Amino acid sequence: MKIIHKPRIMSGLSCKIKMQHKTIGLVPTMGALHEGHLSLIRRARKDNDYVVVSIFVNPTQFSPKEDLKKYPRPLKQDMRLCKKEGVDIIFYPSVEMMYPKDYKTYIKVSKLDEVLCGKFRPGHFQGVTTVVAKLFNIVSADNAYFGQKDAQQAIIIQKMVIDLNIPVRIKITPTVREKDGLAMSSRNAYLNQKERKEAVVLYQALKLAGRLIKQGNKNSADIIKRMQYLILTKKSAKIQYLAIVDTQDLRLVSRIKEKILIALAVSIGKTRLIDNITVVP
Ligand code: PAF
Repeated sequence: MKIIHKPRIMSGLSCKIKMQHKTIGLVPTMGALHEGHLSLIRRARKDNDYVVVSIFVNPTQFSPKEDLKKYPRPLKQDMRLCKKEGVDIIFYPSVEMMYPKDYKTYIKVSKLDEVLCGKFRPGHFQGVTTVVAKLFNIVSADNAYFGQKDAQQAIIIQKMVIDLNIPVRIKITPTVREKDGLAMSSRNAYLNQKERKEAVVLYQALKLAGRLIKQGNKNSADIIKRMQYLILTKKSAKIQYLAIVDTQDLRLVSRIKEKILIALAVSIGKTRLIDNITVVP
């Protein structure tokens, strides 16, 4: 397994791989790898000749108030996991290499970045699309892998790739959950024991909504109210948003007629967690 720090070296190696008509699968991450990431890596391993995992805690997607400094960086452990999964290359650039002095170019996917998480994290998705576009350019991957857990991120990246004619296929893989249903996230590590127990309410609320829809309830406002009641039975929970939206354009759906995305962001203590499911009525 190679560890590459410089974008120029990564591009050169990708170019060589491409000249041999081999495929490259890219798994972009911010490190602190968990089962969710590993499922992306395994899928990439199955689909491609070469697997590149990028590890880069991207400062442009954190607001000044957010947890950039505190974000976990267990590099040795990440390297061990990547090796075990048969990753060929870890791309691990420094901030200075990705954003040299006087960096000025950003990519914004308008509208889609203003709803759900975008409403509460201004600039976040611009940071994500900018770094992901850079990674696509550097790695020249044939396939790139993202988790359904970050549904809005996946939808925005898909739109960016279409709009900018970026020649990469985006593959979305299902959310990996703990035994009790909590979606895997690097941020789960911030939860204390009591919060960890209460955090399961996010998935319980999503499942409740799914059940109500399957039973024929089409009224989003009613479903959201019931989710709210359930979540607020947990003392450490503070709801940022609960929304039922279209799976393509993320517009709010008030009467449920076709496949929808139920998405939420809830703080458990000081830790902001997100989760979602899609439901076909
Ligand atoms: O989902 C993430 O971990 C990040 O947003 C990503 C896609 C690696 C970009 O920094």
